[in-house]
Amino acid sequence: MIRIAFFDTKPYDKIWFDRYCTDSMEIKYFEGKLHPDSAILARNYDVVVAFVNDNINEKTLSILVENGVKLLAMRCAGYNNIDLAYAKGKIPIVRVPGYSPYAVAEHAMAMLLCLNRKIHRAFNRTREYNFSINGFTGWDLHGKTAGVIGTGKIGQIFIEICKGFGMEVLAYDPYPAEGMDIHYVELEELFSRSDVISLHCPLTKETDRIINEESIRKMKRGVTIINTSRGALIESEALLKALREEYVRAAGLDVYEEETDLFYEDRSNTIIKDEVLSLLVSMPNVLLTSHQAFLTEEALENIASVTIGNIRSFFEKHELENEV
Ligand code: NAI
Repeated sequence: MIRIAFFDTKPYDKIWFDRYCTDSMEIKYFEGKLHPDSAILARNYDVVVAFVNDNINEKTLSILVENGVKLLAMRCAGYNNIDLAYAKGKIPIVRVPGYSPYAVAEHAMAMLLCLNRKIHRAFNRTREYNFSINGFTGWDLHGKTAGVIGTGKIGQIFIEICKGFGMEVLAYDPYPAEGMDIHYVELEELFSRSDVISLHCPLTKETDRIINEESIRKMKRGVTIINTSRGALIESEALLKALREEYVRAAGLDVYEEETDLFYEDRSNTIIKDEVLSLLVSMPNVLLTSHQAFLTEEALENIASVTIGNIRSFFEKHELENEV
């Protein structure tokens, strides 16, 4: 029997993993996140399944390894929350490289449309029979320019969606996609010409706070920024400042650099100490969602089937095609 310790479990995870789990596997679902203090729960389990906001640092990894965990199976694409240098040679790590690029790209467009046409505000007004439309003026996306940073699986789909709206699309990626009809430009040009900038690159040393005070000043006044990738791609204070100065028109954020202890939980009874987050949330032109861009049935099913497949490949000694 392969014993699996599953961390940060939500009801929607359990539905799909129970469905894909095989007879030779046994899953123990833990609600809490994986971090140095909870890692000991994985003692005597063969596999740990973890997610984006688990803290998989050196301490966590050493506890897993010392306690006999043989495989770390990430049920997500990103792995910036793992100390890879420490893990190397000690524990293999697998991931789900893509589960539904459509889910994330469509969510990015949903955020843009909602912000532009003030749908989030209209929803609240009409519930109170306030049928005024003052302050709701948007702009046609048709003919506007979208700047897409990162043209991998998600970025490419977002580009197609934008083209469907009649937008001109500029893209930046140090590793351009071959054979695609994508107009690549340097980052500076993308910043200076785009009406909308959407981030679809991973969080790396090069992209950490790629949107900062200096880069925002290179953008058009009135730019809308959408981030469905990773919170730390944006320096939040700089974004807040630019929003307050009405330099940035609007921001759609599915991720936030300090999201780890907040997102995915009901914090409505807590006083939020993060002032930047509180101010962002209070703005009518900021739309925050809780790292939910991936959350479609198709994506959840793919996450479960690929993760279970990764675990089977490991124990059946097949090549690990999704190894990090
Ligand atoms: P991908 O690996 O297919 O594409 C990433 C692209 O970014 C590649 O083309 C790569 O060359 C490019 N890139 C690398 N360094 C760059 C740089 N310095 N500047 C610009 N581009 C750069 O990844 P995919 O599947 O498209 O995902 C993109 C990101 O979306 C992930 O890294 C992850 O952070 C995020 N994501 C968010 C989810 C959510 O629920 N909000 C769910 C899944 C992914």
